[in-house]
Amino acid sequence: MRVQPLHPGFAAEAEAIDLSQPLNDADIASIWQAIDTYPVLVFRGQRLTDTQLRDFAARFGPLEIGRAAMRPGPRRLAIPQIGDISNLDEDNKVRALTDRRRLDSLGNRLWHTDASYMPVPVVLGMLHAVALPPPSPFGNGETEFADMRAAYAALSEATKAAIDDLVVEHDVFWSRAQIGFTEFPQGERDRFPPSPQRLVRRMAAAGQKTLYLSAHASHVVGWPVADGRLLLMDLTAHATQTRFVYSHTWRVGDVVIWDNRCTMHRGRPHDEAQPRDLRRATTLDARSTLEEAA
Ligand code: OGA
Ligand code: MN
Repeated sequence: MRVQPLHPGFAAEAEAIDLSQPLNDADIASIWQAIDTYPVLVFRGQRLTDTQLRDFAARFGPLEIGRAAMRPGPRRLAIPQIGDISNLDEDNKVRALTDRRRLDSLGNRLWHTDASYMPVPVVLGMLHAVALPPPSPFGNGETEFADMRAAYAALSEATKAAIDDLVVEHDVFWSRAQIGFTEFPQGERDRFPPSPQRLVRRMAAAGQKTLYLSAHASHVVGWPVADGRLLLMDLTAHATQTRFVYSHTWRVGDVVIWDNRCTMHRGRPHDEAQPRDLRRATTLDARSTLEEAA
């Protein structure tokens, strides 16, 4: 598969293949190969139904059912494996500024990797743009991605040695607390307890080490909370410097695939009065990061 780099060794645009059509094993293998080199991979000009997005994503692994889709009650999208990354309610109306689902989803504006608070986290995220807002004074709803392999490689050897074996506790309620959102439905805190994850992971395919950071990352196991939190803040500031970041400006029809194991991402602000509708499929990993080879 031909790709056009957008950011060296990190993000690329793939040649236009139609992801709505069934792909053969060689096609899937060549997309995997591209992801191993470019963990942010952009496909333009797609028009996928939710079923087509799910079926395409399922070729890459078992699919996650996200925290929002697991809640009881009505939902805008029919397929639980399709995450609703929008500001719309069940009637396709833009949610009020005070809407709890909207406030919860604002956690996506913090640099994070998806679902790192789960004992077994996720691998690929795939976002498909269905409707986009116009520009706003605070941002245009871009999604930014940060290269955590390059960020790790740029650390000093002494820092690498000091952090290589650390374990970090990841907690979705910590990421939400950072933006002042602390109210959750009865029982939700019990359903999503924190999970320990390696701070430094090794990519299975090419063997590079990568930082595994996230807004969910709360503290370092075995350290005073304050010390661990400060280290995580320093590492996050390091890893999200402009030189490590690719900012994706969305067009309707884009599919962006990213590897959550070696990237962070965040959404940018946009005009909250206008619909922004993206659909996400996410593949699950096979084991906890603690069970991976160091
Ligand atoms: C996500 C996410 C950011 C955005 O879908 O996982 O963090 O720009 N999205 O919507
Ligand atoms: Mn996310």
